[in-house]
Amino acid sequence: MSKTLVIAGHPDYKNSIANRAILDEFHRLVPEAEIVYLDAEYPDFNIDVEREQKRLVEADTVVFEFPFWWYSAPSLMRRYFELVLSYGFAYGSTGTALHGKKLILSFTTGAPEAAYSPDGYQHYDIESFIPQFRALSNLCGFEWQEPIISFGMMLLNPDDKGASERVFAEAKNHAERLKEAVN
Ligand SMILES: Cc1cc2nc3c(=O)[nH]c(=O)nc-3n(C[C@H](O)[C@H](O)[C@H](O)COP(=O)(O)O)c2cc1C
Repeated sequence: MSKTLVIAGHPDYKNSIANRAILDEFHRLVPEAEIVYLDAEYPDFNIDVEREQKRLVEADTVVFEFPFWWYSAPSLMRRYFELVLSYGFAYGSTGTALHGKKLILSFTTGAPEAAYSPDGYQHYDIESFIPQFRALSNLCGFEWQEPIISFGMMLLNPDDKGASERVFAEAKNHAERLKEAVN
């Protein structure tokens, strides 16, 4: 059976709404997948590289799950890239440990989809922000999969029932898409 590893890179799941809802639902749908909450395991950013590399080696499909922060992955997710995807493991002539594993980027944005266009207030399409991850995937020899993205997932006022229902429905849909992608 193929093994899925989700690296959850939100720096603060206690205060997460969207990503927590996505991963709770994903866990319900795919209980056999391993989910690593980096903020719980490494609150001080001291990532156990050997342990995380072993988890990667054992996986067939890897998911990087995070909220889009400042047009990229948040610092904890990036710290994971910096430390775990090391030379000789993830890249370089002997760095072949990740070759052939599927990689799925899964993230949420605060801004609505319409904002991510040349005419929108973010000025760029969301695709403009993906090449850095695609390059990482290429260098590591991952098999790149279509990213799974949910837009407009920032709940400014949790008392706004309509907005809250929409975010939770989107989160459920996101988890279902992720389930399809890992199967
Ligand atoms: C520090 C910070 C930076 C953010 N940067 C962006 C951004 O660049 N683009 C965007 O669309 N939303 C941005 N947001 C909004 C988050 O993407 C949004 O709150 C998140 O996806 C909601 O997920 P959560 O409930 O799991 O935290 C940012 C939020 C924070 C706190």
